[in-house]
Amino acid sequence: MRVLVVGGAGYIGSHTVYELIKDHQEVIILDNLSSGYMELVHPEATFYQGDIRNKADVIRVFAKEEIDVVMHFAAKIVVPESVKEPLEYYYNNVEGVRVLLEVMKEFNVKKIVFSSTAAVYGEASGICHEDDPTVPINPYGETKLATEKMIKWVSNAYGFNYVIFRYFNVAGADQSLKIGLMKDQLTHLIPVAIQGIIGLRDHLMIFGDDYPTKDGTCIRDYIHVSDLAYAHVLGAHYLVNGGTSETMNLGSNAGFTVREVAEAVNAIAPLKVVMGPRRDGDPAELVASNDKAKRILNWSPKYNLKDIVQSDYLYRKKISYK
Ligand SMILES: NC(=O)c1ccc[n+]([C@@H]2O[C@H](COP(=O)([O-])OP(=O)(O)OC[C@H]3O[C@@H](n4cnc5c(N)ncnc54)[C@H](O)[C@@H]3O)[C@@H](O)[C@H]2O)c1
Repeated sequence: MRVLVVGGAGYIGSHTVYELIKDHQEVIILDNLSSGYMELVHPEATFYQGDIRNKADVIRVFAKEEIDVVMHFAAKIVVPESVKEPLEYYYNNVEGVRVLLEVMKEFNVKKIVFSSTAAVYGEASGICHEDDPTVPINPYGETKLATEKMIKWVSNAYGFNYVIFRYFNVAGADQSLKIGLMKDQLTHLIPVAIQGIIGLRDHLMIFGDDYPTKDGTCIRDYIHVSDLAYAHVLGAHYLVNGGTSETMNLGSNAGFTVREVAEAVNAIAPLKVVMGPRRDGDPAELVASNDKAKRILNWSPKYNLKDIVQSDYLYRKKISYK
């Protein structure tokens, strides 16, 4: 397969490129490096610097390269920023995909794997299934849902086939430790907790310990980035082999409390934990049902919470002592 990975210099895109290359696929990357890094770009991939909102940048790639399937990771993803700058988020996340789909149509490339998010479920609680109501509560989630819908209508009108993946909490780093979540992107629990044991942060604050869960802290679903990335490889094979359009959750089917995550980090080195108040809009429990991805793609995650925490620790230690 010749796979165009849009956003392949970012965290999840770069891991997917590594999995594609392990799977002996040819990879072309288009990225504007707005939040990506050249050092995350696999040396065997063909790299184009460009912006998907700029049609000429996208045409340049399609005119030069034969492409079987496109993967899209090129989004802005910071929720509070999306609340402050909604137009920027719609422009990048929705308009970017609109231009990309237009060029795909012109070049008769009609297979796309799209990164969506659990944020489309909004304040859902408990186990999320793909047919649950989608009610995002911030512009970031809205842009991803709007794009999902655009892809569905485009598929209906022009005969595209898609796989839409909705991710839960992604963390960890590739086993090679050549790539991982770079240090200025840290808002998520696991890398923030790891910072607390490598001297980059004084403590981890837990927001709320009075939720109706076994230890009072919120339950979330964590997935290793390499498991997630490999699901994309399977998704591309599925489409190239004639699979029909599907939307699937990617998660672990299992929840861990924030305190359990803190304990997993504390098992590596002592982590100071400070309790804080609840944050608005945090549901008590959010876990993915991953039955659909298991059934359709024969995929299941192979890494557990300990592996995720350990790989993020090793990567973060490596980049902070460079
Ligand atoms: N990180 C998570 O926990 C998470 C969770 C759910 C869903 N997602 C989805 O996964 C995808 C990738 O997220 P990530 O964490 O790897 O983010 P990231 O910021 O590390 O990667 C995004 C990449 O896209 C590039 N990019 C952004 N806008 C572009 C544009 N207009 N043209 C060309 N390139 C552009 C950036 O330079 C960067 O390399 C996003 O679509 C996001 O919605 C991420």
